[in-house]
Amino acid sequence: MDKIVIEGGVPLTGEVVISGAKNAALPILAATLLAPGEHRLFNVPPLADIRTFTRLLGKLGVRFQNGDHLTVDTSRLDCYEAPYELVKTMRAAVLVLGPLVARAHRARVSLPGGCAIGARPINLHLKGLEAMGVKITLKEGYVEADARGLHGAEIMLEIPTVTGTENLMMAATLAQGTTVIKNAAMEPEVADLAGFLTALGAKIEGIGTEVLTIHGVSQLTPAPYSIMADRIEAGTYLAAAAITKGQVTLTNAPVEHLTAVIDKFTEAGVRLTTDANRITVHPGGTLTGVDVRTLPYPGFPTDMQAQFMALMCVARGAAVITETIFENRFMHVSELKRLGADISVSGNHAVVRGRRHLQGAPVMATDLRASASLVIAGLAAQGTTEVHRIYHLDRGYARLTEKLSTLGARIRRMPV
Ligand code: EPU
Repeated sequence: MDKIVIEGGVPLTGEVVISGAKNAALPILAATLLAPGEHRLFNVPPLADIRTFTRLLGKLGVRFQNGDHLTVDTSRLDCYEAPYELVKTMRAAVLVLGPLVARAHRARVSLPGGCAIGARPINLHLKGLEAMGVKITLKEGYVEADARGLHGAEIMLEIPTVTGTENLMMAATLAQGTTVIKNAAMEPEVADLAGFLTALGAKIEGIGTEVLTIHGVSQLTPAPYSIMADRIEAGTYLAAAAITKGQVTLTNAPVEHLTAVIDKFTEAGVRLTTDANRITVHPGGTLTGVDVRTLPYPGFPTDMQAQFMALMCVARGAAVITETIFENRFMHVSELKRLGADISVSGNHAVVRGRRHLQGAPVMATDLRASASLVIAGLAAQGTTEVHRIYHLDRGYARLTEKLSTLGARIRRMPV
C-alpha cells in the first residue's frame, strides 16, 4: 500500500485540467444497461471506483474497450446480480438496481452496509421502486426485485437522495406510463444522467429541478456522450491553491455548478476570477473564518466540507462548520488536529479556530473527501506530512499527485 509524502509551504502555480465527474460517470455507466448495444463515453475519469464499476458491469456480461473514449457494449446481459464483494467496496454499485429492474425485470443486489460517513440506507430507493410495482424482498443480505409489473408512479422522496433519484429515474425510463419524482435531487450529476438518458431516447421533463417527470418509452438506443466535469475535484484544487496562497487556473471547470463554493471561498477572502470554463485563484487575499452549512444542491456540497475545513484551519478567526447531510462526516477532524488544527466538535457542528501555521505529521485517510482535506492541509503545513491509506484518494481523484506536482507541490507517492 502506498502513502503520499508532502513537504508543505510551496505556493501552487500554473494550470490544472479538471477531469470528468466520478458521480456522473458512475450512474451513466449504470444507465448504459438500459440500451443494448455499443455506447461511446467521453471524459470518463481514470479512477479506482470506475474500474470497480466496470468490473461489476463485466460480471453482468458488459464488454469494454478503452481508448481515447470508453466503449461499453451492453448487447449481452448474462446475469442480474450485484454481489456483496463488489457492493461492499463501493456502495455506488447499488446504481445497477434501477437499470436491471427496467431491462431484465429482475435484480439481485447486495444491500450496502453502513460506511465511514454514515449509515446511508437505501430505503427510499426501495420504497420508490415498490410504488412502481416492483416486488422487493430482502433475503440473506440481498435486495431481490421482481419487476414484471413495472409501471409509472407518483413518488415523493422524503429526502432528495442523489443515487435514489438516479435509480428511480433510470427505472422509470422504460416503465409503462408516467413517473413523477417530487423532491428529486437537483445535483448537476443527476441532470447529467438525465442528459444521457435523453440522448438514449428517454422522455424526461424538469431536468435540474426538484420535480422530474419521466414518460416511459418502449426502448432506448445507444448514443455517444461526454461526462460533465467534476465540480468537487475543481473545488478541491481551489482549496489547495488558496491554502498555499498560490496562483492557479482550473481549466475545463464546471463554473456554473460551483456557485455556492465560489461564494463561500470569496466570503472567506480568497480572490477568484472566472470566465466560461476557467477559474483562477489569485494570491493576496487574507483568509478569514466563515461559517458554512452543507446542504443539498444548490447549497454548499457535503463533498466539499472537509476540504473547506482544512482551509479554515489557517484562516483568521473562527468558523462554524455544520454538516447536515451525513451523520458522521467529521472523521478528518482528529487527523487535522494531528497537524496542529484547533477544532472542537459538538454534534454536527465543528468550531474551527484558525492557526497561523499547521505542522506536518503522519495522518491517516478515512474516506475520500477526508483524505483530500489532509492533502490540502499538508500542502500548507510546515515540514513533512505523510498521508496513509491513500486508496481512498485513488477512488475519486484522477492522477492527484501528478496534477499537484505539475503545480509545483513537493508531493510524492511511495510504498509504505
Ligand atoms: N438517505 C436515506 N435513505 C435513502 C437514501 C439516502 O435516509 O434511501 C439519506 C442518507 O443516509 C444521507 C442523505 O439521505 O443522510 C443523502 O444521501 P444521498 O442518498 O443523497 O447520498 P448518495 O446518493 O448515497 C451521493 C454521492 C456522495 C455524496 C452524496 C450527497 C454518488 C455515487 N455519491 O451519495 O458522494 O456525498 O450523494 O451529495 O453520487 C463522494 O463522492 O465522496 C460521495 C460520498
